[in-house]
Amino acid sequence: MNYRHSFHAGNHADVFKHAVLLRMLQLMQRKETPLCYLDSHAGTSLYDLLGEQAGKTGEYREGIGRLWQAGNVPPLLADYRAAVARHNPDGDLQLYPGSPQLIADALREQDRMILSELHPQDADTLKVHFAGQDAIAVHHRDGYELGKAFLPVAEKRALWLLDPPFEQPDDLLRCLQAMDAGLQRMRHCVIALWYPIKDTRALKSFYQQVAQRDWPKVLRIEFNVRPADTSLGLNGSGLILVNPPWPLWEELETVLPWLNKLLTQSAGADWRMDWLVGAP
Ligand SMILES: C[S@@+](CC[C@H](N)C(=O)[O-])C[C@H]1O[C@@H](n2cnc3c(N)ncnc32)[C@H](O)[C@@H]1O
Repeated sequence: MNYRHSFHAGNHADVFKHAVLLRMLQLMQRKETPLCYLDSHAGTSLYDLLGEQAGKTGEYREGIGRLWQAGNVPPLLADYRAAVARHNPDGDLQLYPGSPQLIADALREQDRMILSELHPQDADTLKVHFAGQDAIAVHHRDGYELGKAFLPVAEKRALWLLDPPFEQPDDLLRCLQAMDAGLQRMRHCVIALWYPIKDTRALKSFYQQVAQRDWPKVLRIEFNVRPADTSLGLNGSGLILVNPPWPLWEELETVLPWLNKLLTQSAGADWRMDWLVGAP
């Protein structure tokens, strides 16, 4: 396990993922009934953007750094920026909330959160950080097992983020299998799977496999800040959303062009969104 998210926290992929994730939660929270958030590859709680690791790559500067300074921000992104600002009350950007913190801040009294993280240090940090909060459970275990272990949830409504580091060649396959198992147990579970856009051939086959699934509605979003074949690191990332709450896709139609323009790093950046299964 070499991947450390602290090198990448707040980069363009985090901004895209976290803004969409937070909005999904908000839309689900329009109903008063409780929900459970599951995060199978949780990372840690707060990242120091001025620390050695984030400073080494400087990736956050082209991600949350750009949004931090932007004017006329669309409401969906203003909400996400406000969630980051909550940890930077003096107005200078230093701390970045990872997905567990971002969602913990937004949980209501009736909601619950289950986190799993395999890296011992990050799992410990999360355990200490959320100690004493009964609604938050932290597990040092394999995130791919989360769906099998905890679905269906008693609340009957769940939002599950799968966000592996993609260090292993079979990570996409393992995600598919984990989602199969989860959806068998809870067909109406809302799922967000994040993935890097690097190997476009492998992705084509992955998309074909998703499209053949007997899953309910599946929305695909790709968000590239450089053309997909540029050899400069992570050019873009995608989200596979199962059972996304309405009207997320209508909102994203106006928000993603704005965000893509803000975060673009070279000509040829683009985004797309379409239904792989069950267009509404
Ligand atoms: C991309 S990072 C997570 C970022 C976090 N979800 C966020 O959005 O802020 C992936 C994390 O998965 C952890 N990890 C790797 N393999 C895992 C596994 N099989 N089960 C659980 N966690 C794993 C890594 O240690 C790393 O912290």
